Amino acid sequence: MSVVEYECVGDIGLLTLNNAPVNALSHSLRSGIVDALRMASLDQSKAIIIVGNGAMFCAGADIKEFSQTPQAPSLVDVTECIENMQKPVIAAIHGNALGGGLELALACHYRCALASAKLGLPEVKLGILPGAGGTQRAPRIIGLEHAFTLITSGNPCKAEKALSIGLIDHLVEHDQDLVAAAQKYAQQVLNEGLPIRRSSQSPIDKQNIDSDWFDKKRAELSKRARGQIAPQHIVDCLEKALNAEFVEGMQFEREAFLNCVTSEQAKAMRHLFFAQRLAAKVKGVSPDTSKRPIKSVAIIGAGTMGGGIAMNFANVGIPVTLLELSAESLTKGLQLIEKNYAISVSKGRLSESQKAQRLALISGSTSYQELNQVDLVIEAVFEDVEIKKQVFRKLDEVCKVGAILATNTSYQDVDAIAQVTKRPQDVIGLHFFSPANVMKLLEVVRGAQTADDVITTSMALATTIAKIPVLSGVCYGFIGNRLLSVYLRQSQLCLLHGATPEQVDSAMTNWGAAMGPLAMNDLAGIDIGFKARQGLSDDKKGSPEVYAIADAMYHAGRLGQKTAVGYYRYDPETRARINDPDALAIIEAQSAKFGIPRNAQTEQEILNRMIIALVNEGANVLHDGIAQRSSDIDLVYIFGYGFPAYRGGPMHYADSIGTKKVFEMVCDFASKFGNTYWTPSPLLKELAEKNLSFSDWDAQQSNSK
Ligand code: CAA
Repeated sequence: MSVVEYECVGDIGLLTLNNAPVNALSHSLRSGIVDALRMASLDQSKAIIIVGNGAMFCAGADIKEFSQTPQAPSLVDVTECIENMQKPVIAAIHGNALGGGLELALACHYRCALASAKLGLPEVKLGILPGAGGTQRAPRIIGLEHAFTLITSGNPCKAEKALSIGLIDHLVEHDQDLVAAAQKYAQQVLNEGLPIRRSSQSPIDKQNIDSDWFDKKRAELSKRARGQIAPQHIVDCLEKALNAEFVEGMQFEREAFLNCVTSEQAKAMRHLFFAQRLAAKVKGVSPDTSKRPIKSVAIIGAGTMGGGIAMNFANVGIPVTLLELSAESLTKGLQLIEKNYAISVSKGRLSESQKAQRLALISGSTSYQELNQVDLVIEAVFEDVEIKKQVFRKLDEVCKVGAILATNTSYQDVDAIAQVTKRPQDVIGLHFFSPANVMKLLEVVRGAQTADDVITTSMALATTIAKIPVLSGVCYGFIGNRLLSVYLRQSQLCLLHGATPEQVDSAMTNWGAAMGPLAMNDLAGIDIGFKARQGLSDDKKGSPEVYAIADAMYHAGRLGQKTAVGYYRYDPETRARINDPDALAIIEAQSAKFGIPRNAQTEQEILNRMIIALVNEGANVLHDGIAQRSSDIDLVYIFGYGFPAYRGGPMHYADSIGTKKVFEMVCDFASKFGNTYWTPSPLLKELAEKNLSFSDWDAQQSNSK
């Protein structure tokens, strides 16, 4: 079968997109569509149906082509060709119609879809905007408000919703054959003499669009999508759609699209798109490795973390048992879960019946014996290796053969934990990020003896529960927290060398981070870090000046938001963060104690120290074989720590400025601040000398395996 098939049966021409796996609109598919339409315009067909072969209608433009020289026909040419047909053209949608795929459908004169189909314009998630008329046709078809939501959220809508807003004209029930139903619908269009409806010629409904509608949307997006350029361009395009002729609007959209697609933000977001797909691939483990069935799960520990983890499974219909030592702790844990679901209901994200269904899947127990039939156990108890070992000894006694035994430890040695069992091959780390029912990242920690099928099962399970899995080897803190410690260390050293808490935090938030490191400490509780340090050896704690300020805050009773004072002061009513001279006095006293002169630091200097420290440690993590590839580290930082997606993660950021420059910066910091924390990673040095990027290194590694 070629990428486009065309046949005419009776009155109806059937044009089938056949570009596996997702019918991406690559050059050959675009040419094929234009050729087929030419044939269709000349044959005896009276109406034409466009349908997708395989799993979906079409996933949009071929994202790989964005970094190549464009080749005619463009997708705009294809949509024009469709719209100008002199016979009705009907899109018959199943699976997904996304991005350029939906734009293709919007250029058709009618649209029908299977009830299970999803339609969306997700371009904004790639740092771009619909570039084949989406911003001009969507408001003409569904109105400005719906078009704004569809395009700026990037979220697809289900076929039923699409029908209710006019995005499709006809719904095909689940059990029907799409092509047969579309043929019937086409015949109906012909029989009823329905017009060839060209959306480019439809007016936009101006009702409810006040004069300040666009400015309000711009203001909304400057908060919701802070720092991103594509959402603002989208509003400009919608405004143009309202105020100009279609042709002018298309020209405007083209320019905005080109502006976005060549931007660093779009490059970063494309990088993340492919990074996510790559992360699921485990080097040295065949994708055909069988997976163990996971039909029931148990969680040890019903605290905030354990409860959050349990919710992930209940949300996808997998029954979970929560185990606690006492009935009282268990009740508290179950109540917390109920409260979390109730919040989702109150926000309209969940119905009462969905809440009831999910809660019905979560049960509690205080007896290990009741875990003897579960397929997976995740331990989420206090972060103490001895307690964890006790739990695993117990699990080894009671769990059935073949059960996967996972630890949610953030730092501890997974191998040491595995060794207390007689089945280290079944032991793995599944490190969730807090809040576990919200954060997308799951670090899958492979122990020295973890079996291949335990890894493949865990990676697949992560996708089932809507997480992004990243494989990590065993080391203190794995990928994420190992890097976090160098980042937090630099935040403390910046304070000691003269910066204020606000300067440190705003260097990060102005760069796009969700929160600065010191505000994060205040939120988490300064006592938490203090207590964690008590159990650490000196090499893990670092030298005393690194934690001197944090310790001083703790001893002054400044524990963060919970005591209304920490690195900042917090308004007791509004929780608003206020700069506090008392906090600064504590910081200054510590600088004096260590004889460190306090010098002014620019925002760029602070930012460089924080990010370049991450990059250098990221390179060490790669060098030590802890992460499979640099793009995995990027995913960890975006989906586990709230780094801005449009920067692409620390390693991509390093590539965007060049490894040579990054290496020079590390050397500069070493000469300024000493090399205790600024020893260049051997891998960074090697790449800089060879003028290679981290992504070159990733490619080399995947070619050599
Ligand atoms: N272009 C190129 N490759 C694509 C692609 C696209 N639009 N969409 C998916 N792929 C590739 C993936 O990289 C993956 O390749 P590998 O197997 O080599 O890793 C393969 O297709 C399968 O994809 P998934 O693993 O993601 O499959 P899935 O079934 O889990 O998800 C999907 C399918 C929902 C369509 C998902 O792939 C997706 O969201 N794709 C992107 C959709 C999108 O963003 N479209 C807009 C493109 S931009 C555009 O269209 C601009 C314009 O206006 C012209």
